[in-house]
Amino acid sequence: MWHGRFKQDTAEIVKKFTQSLDVDWRMYEADIEGSIAHVKMLGKTGILSSEEASKIEAGLHEVLNEIQEGKFTPSESLEDVHMNIEARLTEIEPLGAKLHTGRSRNDQVATTTKIYLRKRLHSLKDDLRNLLRAFLNASERHIDIIIPGYTHMQQAQPISMGHYWLSWFEAFIRDYSRLQFALDALNECPLGAGALAGSTFPLDREMTSQLLGFTEPTRNSLDTVASRDYMMDYHYFASMFMIHISRLCTDLITWNSQEFAFIVLPDSFCTGSSMMPQKKNPDVLELSRGKTGQVIGNMIDLLINLKGLPMTYNRDLQEDKRGLWASIDTVESVMKIIAALIDEVEVDEEVALSGIYKGYSLATDIAEYLVMKGIPFREAHAIVGRFIGWCIENHLAFGELRVGDIQEHIPKADWVMMKILSPEESVRRRNVYGGTGFEQVEQQIREGHERLESLK
Ligand code: ARG
Repeated sequence: MWHGRFKQDTAEIVKKFTQSLDVDWRMYEADIEGSIAHVKMLGKTGILSSEEASKIEAGLHEVLNEIQEGKFTPSESLEDVHMNIEARLTEIEPLGAKLHTGRSRNDQVATTTKIYLRKRLHSLKDDLRNLLRAFLNASERHIDIIIPGYTHMQQAQPISMGHYWLSWFEAFIRDYSRLQFALDALNECPLGAGALAGSTFPLDREMTSQLLGFTEPTRNSLDTVASRDYMMDYHYFASMFMIHISRLCTDLITWNSQEFAFIVLPDSFCTGSSMMPQKKNPDVLELSRGKTGQVIGNMIDLLINLKGLPMTYNRDLQEDKRGLWASIDTVESVMKIIAALIDEVEVDEEVALSGIYKGYSLATDIAEYLVMKGIPFREAHAIVGRFIGWCIENHLAFGELRVGDIQEHIPKADWVMMKILSPEESVRRRNVYGGTGFEQVEQQIREGHERLESLK
């Protein structure tokens, strides 16, 4: 494409080194879509005759057909998807040599990438909505199941399992906003920025922007070919999403272990061991957690690439897509498989509850009852603390205590207090907005469905 200025052909080893076809070929459809809009605009503005424009457009459709029918194999020696398509077009229709009028690969790459990304991110939104739905459904299934809630991995207070699932609904619905933000960052159309300075042709940038479904053309041609922050917005979303996934996986892996054992994973989502017959391993969860590093790594990769680059386009930018694709593919597969797993995960109610009876997670409930009886909270805290100390010394778990034991150590313990000293009451009485009380969880599930439906 640039033989005019050169006395030597590009060395084979250099062609191999500089090609990006293996990474950008997947954008062929988006690239052709961009070229069709460009050539329509060239025809409309009279830069090309309308006859020339329609012939080129027809040729582009033909190239697309050939690709879709597997009849066209691109060549690495033509560097990238853009040059492969243009070269094939010109073989089919010699007027194809006019397609690149008023365009550079620099604005073309950015346009093609944004079109392709837009499609992928829209489909991620569908997958993420499914995941959100899975958490709401799990929450409905498990609202009455009580599990120990943990801080510092120490039993803290009993919670509704429904409340636990809703905590992920909140985290992932924030990720949804971040995904939407990343999509909004793709709204401006780069086409017409040229190599860096715009064009001497009277391009109608408004027209190509509209044809391609952008909201407006980019405002500065230098920034247009130099910037990749629209990719960074995706990377940040993806990293945060995977960190949420990873933490979720750690919980489920832990609760699936024999020591906790209150989560029941479907057999179909687990694998066995080639050696140990008893094993049922939570591989899907471990792999999802394990993929998190790659996604974060891809974000860091692009940040470092961009860090020292001068305005405007530099060939370093060709390295922007490999990690991006890897990250999108990973996030997509994780969204799908975790949603399917959450749909089937069950909780062993008895085991979860027995965990509570073995610990002292109702201690706060006693202290708060004493406060209602007029004892200052700090004093109540100390009274209950001493009592728990006594229980531990005497190897008595909460479930093993007799009423007399409690009354002996807690001065104001009466029958009303005895009545509220159960995991169910403990949960039910945490009826503050956002708390684990059953009524609150029910309310949040209802609102959750509404919020899910109103996501655009
Ligand atoms: N293959 C290149 C890329 O994907 C095309 C851009 C080439 N631009 C240039 N000035 N060499 O970024």
